[in-house]
Amino acid sequence: MTDSRPDPSPLARALGRIPCGLFLATVETPDGPVGFVASFVQQVGFEPPTVALAVGKARGPLEALRSSGRFALSVLDKPSSGIMGGFFKPLPEGQTPFDGHELHRTGSGSTVFASALAWLDCTVSGEHETGDHVVVFGVVTEGVLQREGDPSVHLRSNGLGY
Ligand SMILES: Cc1cc2nc3c(=O)[nH]c(=O)nc-3n(C[C@H](O)[C@H](O)[C@H](O)COP(=O)(O)O)c2cc1C
Repeated sequence: MTDSRPDPSPLARALGRIPCGLFLATVETPDGPVGFVASFVQQVGFEPPTVALAVGKARGPLEALRSSGRFALSVLDKPSSGIMGGFFKPLPEGQTPFDGHELHRTGSGSTVFASALAWLDCTVSGEHETGDHVVVFGVVTEGVLQREGDPSVHLRSNGLGY
């Protein structure tokens, strides 16, 4: 079958050359953890260690993130990429995408995945709204490399989508 989508513009193709990683962003709510697959994540400071996470304005967990003031990032690699599956498909009533995964609680109580390559626990230090995303800055308060390995690198042919 041929791809009927129009060719991405030069701008979109150029944007797609910005490499991203793959992460599972998690946020605690009174009803348990929520999360989403995130690729717009970047380290933006050393002292204190700081990361930025761009959250789509329509993304469900955004309000929970704002009210909890914390988020965690599970850094994915090839062996842990299966974690993403449950976050994309509709699940039967009562099931969550966290079911069936070994979870770990950080010192602050954030939920991270035991099978992820690494994780980072963050306290929100600010945010900046820009277009369709809110860039949330997080000071990394705890982090663990759980095993040796290479993080996933997410490359896109069209930078105007994830
Ligand atoms: C590879 C990939 C990377 C993504 N990165 C982000 C991101 O950095 N920020 C964000 O808010 N959403 C991101 N998303 C979208 C969320 O994961 C989204 O919740 C998920 O695609 C489900 O879509 P829905 O919320 O429309 O049901 C990404 C999606 C994919 C497939």
